[in-house]
Amino acid sequence: MSDVLLELDGVTSGYMGDIDVLRNVSLTIRQGYISGLIGLNGAGKSTLFKTIYGFLKPKSGTIRLQGTDISGKEPHALIDDGLWYIPQESSLFPYLSVEENLRLPLEGRRGKFGAVIEQRFDETLARFPILREKLKAQAGDLSGGQQKSLEFAKAYMVQPRVCLIDEPSIGLAPKVAVEVFQWIKAFAESGMGILLVDHNVRRVVAMSDHIYVMSLGEITASGSPEDFQGDLHAQVREWLGINF
Ligand SMILES: Nc1ncnc2c1ncn2[C@@H]1O[C@H](COP(=O)(O)OP(=O)(O)OP(=O)(O)O)[C@@H](O)[C@H]1O
Ligand SMILES: [Mg+2]
Repeated sequence: MSDVLLELDGVTSGYMGDIDVLRNVSLTIRQGYISGLIGLNGAGKSTLFKTIYGFLKPKSGTIRLQGTDISGKEPHALIDDGLWYIPQESSLFPYLSVEENLRLPLEGRRGKFGAVIEQRFDETLARFPILREKLKAQAGDLSGGQQKSLEFAKAYMVQPRVCLIDEPSIGLAPKVAVEVFQWIKAFAESGMGILLVDHNVRRVVAMSDHIYVMSLGEITASGSPEDFQGDLHAQVREWLGINF
């Protein structure tokens, strides 16, 4: 069986009529692999996530999940198909408790998950112990690091096949950021396919199995970590077309 989970082929999309933010994007997410995506602010990275996750309908091209065309499918249907998204901004309900936030994705899918909810809940608290003592707290009252734990704990509850992760370390203390990258590694080791965007380019390159560079909505370079290491700084600078 092929280890390809998600495949984009020539995807073009945008927010308004004739303005294409993504142009002819093709990429692959494999089982147990981290695909890293790097690019400048405004390059279209988050737009790519929103297009995969069904918030934006591609104007052309196809998105296939395990061989099935999912282009234009609604997010709730994609969750059932095994896709999950940890967005750049919060996806938590700030006035609901930590426990309610955690249970919500599976409660709405009792038909599929009813038998495993309690076991998953226990496993999730064992994996993210910081949340155990905060179960009754409102999610909006948690610290930034605790809220990020809750985002990842929700993904752990769902155990998707493919997890899209946008800027997970933004605004976090370095120690918490290290923990976040460890969770992502663990997700991949459990067999999940990951698409990861983070402004920490060195970290993304170091932990990805394959790297894509996006500029102005197009994939302008891709390769293995080895291709990007060595003189990483000079190469990335050249591929991104910037000086930093
Ligand atoms: N809701 C929207 N409506 C119209 N244009 C948008 C919208 N969201 C983003 N854009 C535009 O799409 C382009 C790509 O934005 P996007 O958020 O995908 O970039 P990004 O690579 O994720 O940047 P960052 O690194 O800052 O998160 C930008 O020109 C942006 O202004
Ligand atoms: Mg973004």
